[in-house]
Amino acid sequence: MSEKVRVLISEEEVEKRICEMGKEISEYYKGEEVHLVSVLRGGVFFTCQLAKRLSVPVSLDFMSVSSYGNDTKSSGVVKVIKDLDDAIEGKNVLVVEDIVDSGRTLSYLLENLKSRKPKSLRLCTLLDKPECRVTDVHVDYTGFQIPDEFVVGYGLDYMQHYRNFPYVGVVELEDEAAK
Ligand code: PRP
Ligand code: MN
Ligand code: MG
Repeated sequence: MSEKVRVLISEEEVEKRICEMGKEISEYYKGEEVHLVSVLRGGVFFTCQLAKRLSVPVSLDFMSVSSYGNDTKSSGVVKVIKDLDDAIEGKNVLVVEDIVDSGRTLSYLLENLKSRKPKSLRLCTLLDKPECRVTDVHVDYTGFQIPDEFVVGYGLDYMQHYRNFPYVGVVELEDEAAK
């Protein structure tokens, strides 16, 4: 098997949308600081781009959780691989993710962070697949709602590949033998 990637959302579209999100988020936190919690590994490209578009003071931390491993299907078990470095008590925490799919990763993560008593806790995701939800998650900011297709690029991987693609694409698997 080999795979091709078809562009779903171009680099220009993604970055234009992130600019808009940056404005909306900055407006919301006006006069306050925001502490971005970037979800490794997928959330990192979106986090960097979004952070550059925020006009309020920003601090940044990372948490690494994984439920997919190298599979295209969620295992259903969320593993914390790396915790935050700093405490979030009293901070305006904005979780920054690449995608909310089944919702398992984010519902786990939000519960986990909530117990640490942040001043506020909101969620921002570049992509959302609402029709795939198995667990309820409240998303405060969404870049794009997309259909149920396996997407890569802008941080999203297929077996750890394609994260660096500057656009969001759909992986199309093709059978070598069929060529
Ligand atoms: C992916 C993605 C989200 C999560 C969304 O991460 O980056 O974090 O799955 O899926 P869910 O809503 O079904 O939980 P993954 O586990 O592949 O780890 P990665 O970010 O390191 O690729
Ligand atoms: Mn992830
Ligand atoms: Mg992944």
